[in-house]
Amino acid sequence: MKVLSGIQPSGQLHIGNYFGMMKPMISHMENSELYVFIVDLHAMTSVHDRDRLAQGTLEAAADFLALGLDPGKCIFWVQSDVPEVCELTWILSTLAPMGLIERCHSYKDKIAKGIAATHGLFSYPILMAADILLYQADVVPVGKDQKQHLEVARDLAQKFNNEFGQTFVVPEPAISQETAVVPGLDGQKMSKSYDNTIPIFLEGKQLKKRVMAIETDATPVDEPKNPANCNLFNIFKLFASPERTEEIHRLYVDGGAAYGYIKLELLELLNDFFTQARRKKNEYLDDPQMLREILAQGADRARKKATVTLDIVRDRVGLNY
Ligand code: ADP
Ligand code: TRP
Repeated sequence: MKVLSGIQPSGQLHIGNYFGMMKPMISHMENSELYVFIVDLHAMTSVHDRDRLAQGTLEAAADFLALGLDPGKCIFWVQSDVPEVCELTWILSTLAPMGLIERCHSYKDKIAKGIAATHGLFSYPILMAADILLYQADVVPVGKDQKQHLEVARDLAQKFNNEFGQTFVVPEPAISQETAVVPGLDGQKMSKSYDNTIPIFLEGKQLKKRVMAIETDATPVDEPKNPANCNLFNIFKLFASPERTEEIHRLYVDGGAAYGYIKLELLELLNDFFTQARRKKNEYLDDPQMLREILAQGADRARKKATVTLDIVRDRVGLNY
């Protein structure tokens, strides 16, 4: 089974990215043919700063490796190092109905947040479909917000197959139920664009400030509260053992859950959980040349796979004359 997913290097990665996408991907390392990449071309739809994009790409790569991705057990590369994806994007865009792309809510959401309404932002889902179809992925682990983009990829695969003959695998999304949407500090979906995140690699005072800023209601300590509606509890349970989660759950239901103490315990859990990864990330960033080599080797391997598909596609549509 081929499992593939990508992540944008457009800001500090946060615990929503970790539970929604990175952890599920890393868990596929042992039992699947795994493809993981940093989507710098997608990030260009919101980042127009040379240094931020380049540094962000290296950092996102270091993050993944620090969190346990082993480049010997997967293909790990930077999207723009395999330019074939741009050619496939064009070919797919000639099949993509305007209505299908116009319906994508992520475009509308991003414009509403002030991102410039460029053609690149609009056709973002077609580049993403090309990412997936080029490698013939069977399964794509993503958070719930990406489900519609997966549907676009499926539609385009089917459309191509119908018009030009069976060529692409029709990919399935894999959305883990319990971490489909990790809430942010304010209870909305945690997202770089809402400034409500807990970044994975934040430390010390800055991390404490974030954790203490998790919004909670004003119910007095002794009164019963509903844990399901509480974003503090929903974040806490991602890090605590099942036994401890159960104890805190009981305090919510019976009364006695003190938000301040739960936040301090969460801070400790976060620090324990990511200590080793933080150390490893710094080791990678201290040696960017090694990182670049790992990514270049990954790109070579990815490119070999990509050209096999693209040759067939070129032939099917009539570009091989
Ligand atoms: P952001 O919203 O912070 O910009 P991205 O859109 O770059 O995050 O998402 C990268 C990956 O992480 C995607 O697979 C996405 O579904 C997942 N993801 C992002 N935020 C969350 C969240 N709050 N909960 C679960 N998964 C998430
Ligand atoms: N659009 C995805 C996101 O914002 C990133 C992405 C680009 C992706 N290409 C992909 C995810 C291919 C899975 C497969 O999170």
